[in-house]
Amino acid sequence: MTAPSLPLVVVTGGAGFIGSHTVDRLIESGHRVVVLDNFSTGKRANLARWATDDRLRIEVCDVSHGIFAALAPVTAALGPVERIVHLAAQVSVVHSVANPLVDMQVNYGGTLHVLEYARATGVKKVVFASSAAVYGDVTEMPVPEDIKCAPVSPYGIDKLASELALDYYAVVHAVPATWLRFFNVFGPRQDPSSPYSGVISIFSDRARAGKGLTIFGDGGQTRDFVYVGDVVSAIAAALRDGNSRVVANVGTGREISVLELARTIVELCAGSSAITHAPARAGEILKSRARVDRLRDVLGVVATTSLVDGLRATLG
Ligand SMILES: NC(=O)c1ccc[n+]([C@@H]2O[C@H](COP(=O)([O-])OP(=O)(O)OC[C@H]3O[C@@H](n4cnc5c(N)ncnc54)[C@H](O)[C@@H]3O)[C@@H](O)[C@H]2O)c1
Repeated sequence: MTAPSLPLVVVTGGAGFIGSHTVDRLIESGHRVVVLDNFSTGKRANLARWATDDRLRIEVCDVSHGIFAALAPVTAALGPVERIVHLAAQVSVVHSVANPLVDMQVNYGGTLHVLEYARATGVKKVVFASSAAVYGDVTEMPVPEDIKCAPVSPYGIDKLASELALDYYAVVHAVPATWLRFFNVFGPRQDPSSPYSGVISIFSDRARAGKGLTIFGDGGQTRDFVYVGDVVSAIAAALRDGNSRVVANVGTGREISVLELARTIVELCAGSSAITHAPARAGEILKSRARVDRLRDVLGVVATTSLVDGLRATLG
């Protein structure tokens, strides 16, 4: 890795879906990037285009065991880390219900390790991937950031606990931070192989293969699906933003039903996949739509990619 004048940014979880798109944008916009990833769900193939590029360095690291050791040789060679995007996480809500201690160690513990590093080394900004899961079952739509958070899963609890830790480190240790509450992110490289993966990646994968799509319940449940390119714009804006302790939803402010989504995907694939219904899943949230004023007014970002354009890019 050369070009020492370029700012050095760490992306935890950089081999994953959102992480690899973040790495692409950061390198394209003049950064050097260090990815810390344990490759539990991430893939080297997601970063293949930078394989021989000096501006990317990849360190295998489990963030729940700390990040100092992995970064020591990097910073000895390249100088200090300027900013951190913390995306590494155990990402399955269902898994968090079955294994709450693992979720806590990776998702809350991982954030504390990142913050300890940031505090000790004077990192200028930490941007954290939080989630709409912190809200729980809210009825106010679109969901504003300042509504009372009442998460209904260990995943949501650990994301909220991480937000509180970021706030604490910002106030007590002067570590500038922004936390972004992603709604339903979709786009290329989202792994459809897990049953808990994003519904769009699963539907797209099946519709492309001419297989049937199964909807849990009547399909009337709505989601705010936001394209990964727009999410990366929010991350990049938060990294640049000089404010600290900003919390912002990252969504489109629009909602679409899962039934309409399934029909749209089948139509875009020009396929004949049957859409069938299975019993509704207990605890599934019925409506979800982000209030996005703060994303626009504070970070200057509007998620402009239409669902159809995003689906076309995802379907390839
Ligand atoms: N995709 C969404 O719709 C969505 C919504 C809300 C929040 N988020 C959050 O965005 C972030 C990225 O999610 P994604 O959708 O890209 O998922 P992903 O599974 O593709 O990415 C997660 C990455 O973190 C890595 N990782 C997991 N545990 C780790 C550990 N202990 N140490 C180091 N690396 C580890 C994985 O290998 C992977 O590369 C996560 O924090 C997730 O909770 C995602």
